[in-house]
This record gives sequence, structure tokens and C-alpha cells, in this order.
Amino acid sequence: MTTAKLILDGKEYEFPTVVGTENEVGVDFTKLRPTTGAISVDPGYGNTGSCASSITFIDGEKGILRYRGYPIEEIAEEASFTEVCFLLIYGHLPTQRELDTFNEKLTYHSMIHEAMKQFFDDFPVTAHPMMVLSAMIASLSAFYPRATTDEDRELNIIRLIAKASTIAAFSYKKSVGQPFIYPRNDLTYTENFLHMMFAIPAEPYVVPPVLNKALNLLLILHADHEQNCSTSTVRMVGSSQANLFASISAGVMALWGPLHGGANQKVIEMLQKIREDGGDYQKYMDMAKDKKSGFKLMGFGHRVYKNFDPRATLLKEAAADVLAGLGIDDPLLEIAKKLEDIALEDQFFVERKLYPNVDFYSGILYRAMGIPTEMFTVMFALGRLPGWISQWKEMREDPKGRISRPRQIYTGETKRPYVPMKDRKATVATPEEKLEPVTV
Ligand code: CMC
Repeated sequence: MTTAKLILDGKEYEFPTVVGTENEVGVDFTKLRPTTGAISVDPGYGNTGSCASSITFIDGEKGILRYRGYPIEEIAEEASFTEVCFLLIYGHLPTQRELDTFNEKLTYHSMIHEAMKQFFDDFPVTAHPMMVLSAMIASLSAFYPRATTDEDRELNIIRLIAKASTIAAFSYKKSVGQPFIYPRNDLTYTENFLHMMFAIPAEPYVVPPVLNKALNLLLILHADHEQNCSTSTVRMVGSSQANLFASISAGVMALWGPLHGGANQKVIEMLQKIREDGGDYQKYMDMAKDKKSGFKLMGFGHRVYKNFDPRATLLKEAAADVLAGLGIDDPLLEIAKKLEDIALEDQFFVERKLYPNVDFYSGILYRAMGIPTEMFTVMFALGRLPGWISQWKEMREDPKGRISRPRQIYTGETKRPYVPMKDRKATVATPEEKLEPVTV
């Protein structure tokens, strides 16, 4: 075992290193504070390994992504989404029998409790579907509160995967004022989702294979991505021994942000804006480079990938195929490609190693599939569910697991005496005081 040395105030300390199966090296600072009194500072956790995990491997320099050792390109080519769920959660590729049983359970648990349907009525129709998804997932803990034994937890995992797609489809139906379409037992997981989204009562609906294939790919490519913001949220919430539904509901909220999963919605909105603006790419490139503009090229850049995002490469190819398969000519695809070409040549983006990420092309696919823009991040969440679940499970089964509780460097006031109200002087006007008087 190698060690790392730290010299602090002239005193030398030694810390063990840990090496992963792909030779990733970490310095184990578990004893940093107890031995030195100091803490490590790493805002945004760019250099901090929060756990050891055997689920997903990413090499950001080489653009490598593997689930349980299997390259994403091979999985995306061959596997079904539920097979990937099984792989991520249980650690091995299922046998046919294992997969059949898993699929059967998902089908059996795909309905939601009828009482939950009423919840959809009580949100404003304008409620963002990510908010609805998170609230509904949290509500599952009211309907399935037992989480004591391994069997309870196992069943809740199945319930969550099975019901999340029904919840997502119901929230869409509610937003467009159509009746809910119930899941069918003869359809696969992905077919069922499309059926619940797009079928209408008394009309036969046959799932178009091209849509089913595209959905399967999209869900697989989003299935896990090691310790990203939402997954770390799931682990952090779960580390307090909060139940599965509560932890995943928090993950959905973390994913919603525009710097994370919410970027897919923002990409399409940005492409639309560029189009409406007469297709002036350069204007938007210049804005993205100007820090004062507050504008970023959405769907570009990644904390880990510094060469290319393999998911974006696969989605770019798929977008072209799906659009051709559906006979759709989406001008936004052309804008996206042009923007990518310009960015890849631009010094600002090259120097900072900013490449298209998974969110850059996924929206074009969702659009072609008829999925409304506001639902894009929900689609990401459905794909990410098995990742969140497997990471939550791994964390809970880790005998060395502890509650997540980072430290801080305090930069506030030092000790000072409390000032009673009568002795306080107003130094800054309150927002109310700043308001202009209203004249009627
Ligand atoms: N457009 C313009 N400049 C950018 C962009 C962008 N999209 N992304 C990063 N930069 C600049 C950034 O201003 C910084 O410049 P400088 O070194 O001069 O200060 C430099 O590149 C490094 O960026 P950073 O903000 O330190 O990178 P980060 O690792 O903290 O953030 C990111 C990663 C994904 C949040 C960021 O690249 C970003 O905001 N991208 C746009 C939003 C987006 O597409 N998010 C989806 C991420 S992938 C899917 C997922 O996992 O959710």
C-alpha cells in the first residue's frame, strides 16, 4: 500500500491511498481531521471521492462509460432497459428466467393506488411535471410505509420502477386534459409507457417500433452516471436512513435544476430562441463566451467528460435515424449540429474542453417522439431511476456507511454581543422601505 504525505505547519502526516479496479487513485483523508485538526476544502466536490462504488465507471478523459464493467456502446446496442435496471441493481446480467420474473413483477406493480389519482387533480394544471413526479414518489411512502426487512425494501424497489412510469404518464395526461390510460399487462415496460402517454380511450394504439427503440436507448443512456448531483443527493438523503421513496424524491428535485437534468429542456428552448432570432449562431456563441451575459451554451460542458460524452455521440446518431424513420425534418437538429461545429472550432470551448453532453441531442429525440418539452427532464428521471436505486442500495448495504455530514470553513462574524431591538440602528433599507409609494 502506498501512502501520501502532507506537511501542515511544518509537521508531516501520512495518509493511506486507495486504488480502484481501474487504477483510480485516492488519498484516504478519513483521519485528516482527527490527526491534524484541519479539514480538506473542495467546493463542488470536484476532487472528493464520497464513496467506493462498484456500479459505474467513467473515464472522462477517454470518454468511457461502463455499467458494471459493460461498455455503454455494447449495452445500448443490445439490451432492454429493464435488463439494464436488473444489471445496475443486482450487479450481474440477468438470465432469461431472471429477466422474465423481473419484468413480470414490474408489470404486476405498474398500477398506482386509485387514491393517488386524486393528487393529480389538486395540483394546478400548470404544475411542472418534475414537481409532480417528486411529490408523487414521496407519496408512495405513505402507501407503502413498510421498509424494515430486505423483502420490504426489495418490493419497494420494484414498486418504484413500475409506478414511476405510470405517474409520469398520468402527469402528462393531466396536463393536456385527457383521461388517464392504465398500463396493460401484455406490453413491455417501454411499450407501456408510450401506450399510457399516447393512447386515447376507445382508439386502438399500436406502439410504433421506432419510438419504442428510441425510448429504450434514451432510458439506457441515462440509467446511471456515478456520483453526479442527483445521485449524491439520493445517497446523502439515504445516509440518514430515510426510506427509498424519500431519497429518490429528493434526487428528482436535484435533477430538475438547469445545470443538471433540467438542461435538456433548456437546450430545446435555446435552439428555438436561436431559430426565432433568425438563426444567428454567432450572437449566442459570443454571449456564451461573455461571462457578464449570464448565458451559457446549454447542453455543453461536463464536470467529468473532457473529451467527449459517449452518450451524446450515440444520441446524435440516433436523432438522425429516428427523425428519418419518422419522416420528420426538424430544423432544430440542423441548428444543433451547426452550433456544435462552431463550438468545436472555437478557442474558448476548445481550451475549456467543452463538448456536447447527453442533454444536447436528447431533446431533439424527445421532440420527434411527441414528448412535450416540460416532460424532458421527467424522461431523464425515469432513465436515472435504476442508477439512483442501485446507488441507494449499495450505500445502505455498506457496513462502513455513515451519515453524510460535510464540514465547512466558517467565514462569518466572530463572537459579538446581542443587540436589543431598541438599540439597533437601521443600516440598510428593508425591501418594503425601498418600495415606491403607491398612488391611486
Ligand atoms: N457555456 C459557456 N461556458 C461554459 C459552459 C457552457 N455551457 N460550461 C462551462 N463553461 C465555462 C465556465 O464558465 C468556466 O470558464 P472559466 O474557466 O473561464 O471560468 C469553464 O467553462 C469551466 O466550467 P465550470 O463551470 O467550472 O464547470 P463545472 O464542472 O463546474 O460545470 C456544467 C459543469 C455541466 C454544470 C457546466 O458545463 C454547465 O453549466 N453546462 C451547461 C448546462 C448543462 O448542459 N448541464 C448538463 C450537464 S450533463 C447532464 C447531467 O449530468 O445532468
